[in-house]
Amino acid sequence: MNPTQLFDPASSTYTYVLSDASTREALIIDPVDEQLERDLATLERMGLSLKWAVETHAHADHITSAARLAELTGARTAAPAGCNVGTAARQLRDGDELRFGGETLRVLHTPGHTAGSVCFLWTPKDQPEPAHVFTGDTLLIQGCGRTDFQSGDAGQLYDSITQRLFTLPATTIVWPAHDYHERLQSTIGAEKATNPRLAGKTREQFIALMNDLHLPRPRRIDEAVPANQRSGLRQDAGAAVPAEGEVRPATGYAGDIDPGTAYAWMQGGRAVLVDVRTDAEREWVGFVPGALAAAWKQWPGMAMNAEFDAQVRAAAAEGQSLAMLCRSGVRSIAAARRATELGLTAYNIVGGFEGDLNEQAQRGQLGGWRKAGLPWKQN
Ligand code: FE2
Repeated sequence: MNPTQLFDPASSTYTYVLSDASTREALIIDPVDEQLERDLATLERMGLSLKWAVETHAHADHITSAARLAELTGARTAAPAGCNVGTAARQLRDGDELRFGGETLRVLHTPGHTAGSVCFLWTPKDQPEPAHVFTGDTLLIQGCGRTDFQSGDAGQLYDSITQRLFTLPATTIVWPAHDYHERLQSTIGAEKATNPRLAGKTREQFIALMNDLHLPRPRRIDEAVPANQRSGLRQDAGAAVPAEGEVRPATGYAGDIDPGTAYAWMQGGRAVLVDVRTDAEREWVGFVPGALAAAWKQWPGMAMNAEFDAQVRAAAAEGQSLAMLCRSGVRSIAAARRATELGLTAYNIVGGFEGDLNEQAQRGQLGGWRKAGLPWKQN
């Protein structure tokens, strides 16, 4: 079974979806923020339930959607232990294994592009040969990742490629994190024989070649690396909250509002507060008295709530607007877009009930309804 390969043209990034044919459990490698809707649609079309969202390293050229995928699908996040992604649920070390259904993805620590970079080896149960290796920016087709920033080291990269990757069977299929020339895949044998950076090159020659590349600084590095070290939740998320009373325009729904505005509108009868979190979250984390419960997805499994459309239509029956509340403001955007498609006026409450994750991966400190001191209760 082959992985599903998806491409982000803006960053030339490949994202991979791997699945177990019988259980339909899946894993995604290097998902891109801007492609979240595409990836969710792909999972839905293929009938997959996402278990893991994993990174090969902390990328400098795009922002991951891992945290948002986790929020929307119930998947868990995993990232290399050496990449300082404090928010990732699993910190991956050499030899670790991630399971999805009966399938296993094995971690190969391959420092060089960055100190923490890893590759992933997949040997599908039903077709063990050829195996598949997801090489991130360690090994590219007829190239390799750069080593001139983010703790890169050309000597280490040479050792990782020649001692770890080139010792895999020659038939192993190479799936890189990027390609800039529309090539899709390669093999270990082909790269070993013809990769111009490595074939016939000594370690010293490789280091000299890498040190002589003089590449431009990645355009998005200052924004992307800090965001990726929080699984894609941006550093400025807290700062982006609209002022009280302000409606910030948005695409696909009526706009973003802060929790205080939503509370004022709810009190004044201007909007119905719709809590789109799961029953379990409201029960365990807390709820807003007077809010309507209309889950977007339900735990366990985060299956879509088939009653959602009917519930929000009923809530807006008297022509009221809707203000959507979720945990941190991700599902609420999806819910507001859906309500808008139904012809309703729907706003997203930025920060949700609990706010964004902070540096220690804890919620409740960065924005959100509870942080704002608005009324809530716990059962
Ligand atoms: Fe990279």
